Amino acid sequence: MSDRVLLVGAAGLVGRHVRAALAGRDVVFTYHRDAVEGGVPLDVTDAAAIHRIIAETRPAIVVLAAADPYVEGCERDPQGTRRINVEAASVIRGAAPDATLVVFSSEYVFDGTRLAYREDDAVAPLNEYGRQKVALEELARSHARHLVLRVSGVFGEDPRRKNFVWQLVDRLRAGGTFDVPSDQMNRPRSSACSRGARRRPGSPTRSSSVC
Ligand SMILES: NC(=O)c1ccc[n+]([C@@H]2O[C@H](COP(=O)([O-])OP(=O)(O)OC[C@H]3O[C@@H](n4cnc5c(N)ncnc54)[C@H](OP(=O)(O)O)[C@@H]3O)[C@@H](O)[C@H]2O)c1
Repeated sequence: MSDRVLLVGAAGLVGRHVRAALAGRDVVFTYHRDAVEGGVPLDVTDAAAIHRIIAETRPAIVVLAAADPYVEGCERDPQGTRRINVEAASVIRGAAPDATLVVFSSEYVFDGTRLAYREDDAVAPLNEYGRQKVALEELARSHARHLVLRVSGVFGEDPRRKNFVWQLVDRLRAGGTFDVPSDQMNRPRSSACSRGARRRPGSPTRSSSVC
């Protein structure tokens, strides 16, 4: 097998930085609505299209960075968002049984009753986004070769300036106010740092704390 990487969702915040980290490697990458030069359009809710691109590219690794990561949106439309956030991974797993499947999860798999968690602590999601991440992790772990990356509060270069940090900066620079939760603590992560994710020796799974 080649060492080709199929990066699904290369136009997103995480996807863009994963793509940069893979520069020089044999990478095929996809985008959805925001075209990325050199990329292939793909809607992950289109199972036939997923099968097609995997059959054509025969990747050794599939990195799934495409998602609908909006917590409120998942609550409002659990079924629609599950098709993107969970079922797409199931289709990829079936279409590429020999490839390593890399997925992005979140601290939302936990209930937040403790200040810090270990990666093997029991999950207890409080909302639909968290439940979808737990389902995504279970799906990935049922795949022979997988990597689960739990990231949180990702910030960094973002042409659309839609991540939390840019929204905060833009709103405050414009003299506005910004409502933030007062009961939430997390460990923000530069999207560039996600490039440095390493697997714990002996573990098929890597989660959280990559920098
Ligand atoms: N950012 C964070 O702080 C954070 C924290 C924890 C976990 N994560 C996880 O990291 C992963 C990447 O998040 P992100 O921050 O990079 O999100 P993002 O910037 O919103 O990127 C998500 C990408 O998925 C694409 N997408 C959405 N629907 C799609 C569909 N039906 N078919 C194909 N592509 C589709 C979007 O394309 P269009 O916009 O063109 O539709 C977008 O390019 C997600 O799994 C997220 O849950 C992120």
